[in-house]
Amino acid sequence: MADIEEHTRRLAAESLSSDDPTGWFERLYAQAERGETAVPWDRGAPHQLLAEWSAGLRGEGRRALVVGCGYGADAEHLAGLGFRTDAFDVSATAVDGARRRFPGSPVHYAVADLLEPPGERAGAYDLVVESLTVQSLPDTLRGQAIAAVRRFVAPGGTLLVIASARGEGPVEGPPWPLTRAEVESFSGEDLQAARIEAIPAEADPAVVRWRAEFRRSDRPASSTS
Ligand SMILES: C[S@@+](CC[C@H](N)C(=O)[O-])C[C@H]1O[C@@H](n2cnc3c(N)ncnc32)[C@H](O)[C@@H]1O
Repeated sequence: MADIEEHTRRLAAESLSSDDPTGWFERLYAQAERGETAVPWDRGAPHQLLAEWSAGLRGEGRRALVVGCGYGADAEHLAGLGFRTDAFDVSATAVDGARRRFPGSPVHYAVADLLEPPGERAGAYDLVVESLTVQSLPDTLRGQAIAAVRRFVAPGGTLLVIASARGEGPVEGPPWPLTRAEVESFSGEDLQAARIEAIPAEADPAVVRWRAEFRRSDRPASSTS
């Protein structure tokens, strides 16, 4: 696995140095497709922190969006809870892979760039899940990515953010784990933090993950009454 992570970092570094900060995702998924490497975050299952958070949740009659969906395990989980689920990723090969893994899935998968989000998705979702995508983008794009995630949440809706927590010392990313201040910065406009948890990983308590929940008020920010 160390080799896979090193290879991933090398791909990312090449991409960043040619001013193409997201190009490496497609290259990595395409190489994995050809059997030349593996995708380090491919768990083949929904993220544990999402699965625990959503236990008992019913999504019927509500819309969910998964940002940077990869091979789709989180999106399928939400669809299984009854949400009408959309999911997108900047990598066409990842999206093809998700469709192939889950034939007949009710999830609507699309290729799209979080940094150029389609306008029709703004304010459209009762639940938005962002898991590990913002931390895979360099610092220079964080603010833009976070603002784009925030805009998807409908009035009265919820945003769930899952990320690694930045520890002491320098970081050689990707990923570039998030500081508490970065997690808090998902709030804004009329989206407010409801709960921010720092959760040690079971396998290694020195590794801490953020699970943060934000809610948008029922009324648009521009409302005066
Ligand atoms: C670290 S992976 C996490 C994948 C998935 N969310 C998970 O938890 O397993 C980050 C994902 O975000 C996608 N991604 C990165 N930048 C993106 C962007 N600007 N727009 C859409 N997807 C993006 C990548 O292709 C990749 O699938």
